[in-house]
Amino acid sequence: MSANTDLLARSLAHVWNPCTQMKVHETLPLVPVARGEGVWLEDFEGHRFLDAVSSWWVNIFGHCNPRIRAAIVEQLGTLEHAMLAGFTHAPAVELAERLCALAPRESRRGGLEHACYASDGASATEIALKLAFHAARNRGQPRRQRFVALERSYHGETLGALSVTDMAIYRDAYGPLLGMPLLAPAPAPAARTALDAACCPDCVAPALAALDALLERHGEEVAAMIVEPLVQGAAGMRMYHPDYLRGVRERCDRHGVLLIADEIMTGMGRTGTMFACEQAGIAPDLMCLSKGITGGFLPLSVVLATDAVYRAFYDDSGTRAFLHSHSYTGNPLACRAALATLDLFEADDVIVANRALAARIDAMAAPLREQPWVRGWRRLGMIWAFEVEGADATFPRAVFAEALDRGLLLRPIGDTVYFMPPYSIGADEAEHMIRTAHATLHAVRGD
Ligand SMILES: Cc1ncc(COP(=O)(O)O)c(C=O)c1O
Repeated sequence: MSANTDLLARSLAHVWNPCTQMKVHETLPLVPVARGEGVWLEDFEGHRFLDAVSSWWVNIFGHCNPRIRAAIVEQLGTLEHAMLAGFTHAPAVELAERLCALAPRESRRGGLEHACYASDGASATEIALKLAFHAARNRGQPRRQRFVALERSYHGETLGALSVTDMAIYRDAYGPLLGMPLLAPAPAPAARTALDAACCPDCVAPALAALDALLERHGEEVAAMIVEPLVQGAAGMRMYHPDYLRGVRERCDRHGVLLIADEIMTGMGRTGTMFACEQAGIAPDLMCLSKGITGGFLPLSVVLATDAVYRAFYDDSGTRAFLHSHSYTGNPLACRAALATLDLFEADDVIVANRALAARIDAMAAPLREQPWVRGWRRLGMIWAFEVEGADATFPRAVFAEALDRGLLLRPIGDTVYFMPPYSIGADEAEHMIRTAHATLHAVRGD
């Protein structure tokens, strides 16, 4: 039995994979990964797959990045973990300082000054929702118990995060357990094939008018509005205009509603600025980060909060405190990985370098973009997305399997194909990504 086959059998016997109907693997084999290096994942037989989705959008500097690895190894020699209640340590402090210094800032409102750590994206969403609700309560506004979310939003899959997620596929089974958000129309065209690179400026005014109507009616019941700034990722990389974010910020202020920016996917440079909010010139009250924050090495998330939110909890009374914890809160190894990730941004001037890289990939992608079956081609920063005409329900799985056979990891969302490669992708590798995707789509369409 080969190492591939052996691991597959043992995995199917005991590992319950995420977001998967396990029976699918009777016909679609799992891919056993032996190692990763740069943009490549490799199985035990030497087959290599270019990770065009940065492994669920986390490996922003590729796999096994030597600089991040070295930082973790060094930290391993001094402190692997210590509880963060009653204790503190340099990695947690340094990371909080650097993230607060980098976070979006508005001259009138200021920036984000306090960091609350957790592990995954969804746990950051939970914290942000609880903080918003509890801050209102501490400020004598107990009626503010509801949240506004955008239609087709995705904020994670724990019960609180799922409560502000508008995706039937994830919500339906758990409906009785979930809170209902007030849903505001997303500022993007309803027809998927009409999405375009201009991020639909015409969609902003109607979406803001609908938000006005919703807040006129319910504003006093709302603790916070949560948004994925500029790109609704899980909805199929739906991009929208920064004017909408500016309008949301104004309306939240007018109605005394906190603004939560879920930058779990959009943060860490993915949309072309360190945080997507910067492109709208706004600062949120709470900002969630995770995914790329450790360059894909260790689970870590963080919620950054304004001083005003922090002050709502600062008191002699324990009942006004934020009594929320996870055992691994602020783990030193994870914080060190995040610090090394920030070092890479600085040392390699990554945000600027990505502009040139993205322009090169645009040029390589021109023949694909011009195919008559490609609809709604769009790019923001290091995210490319388009819809494929005629894609049916079997399309995502067929593309995934066909691309793997050709050495590429692609995971379409419905009829949307997207590329979110590591920022470290080289020119030849980008060529492989685009050409292989093109050939894969031809093959799957049967052209
Ligand atoms: C915008 C957004 N929020 C939250 C999450 C949840 O993050 P995690 O999967 O780490 O719980 C995701 C994951 O894709 C996301 O894209």
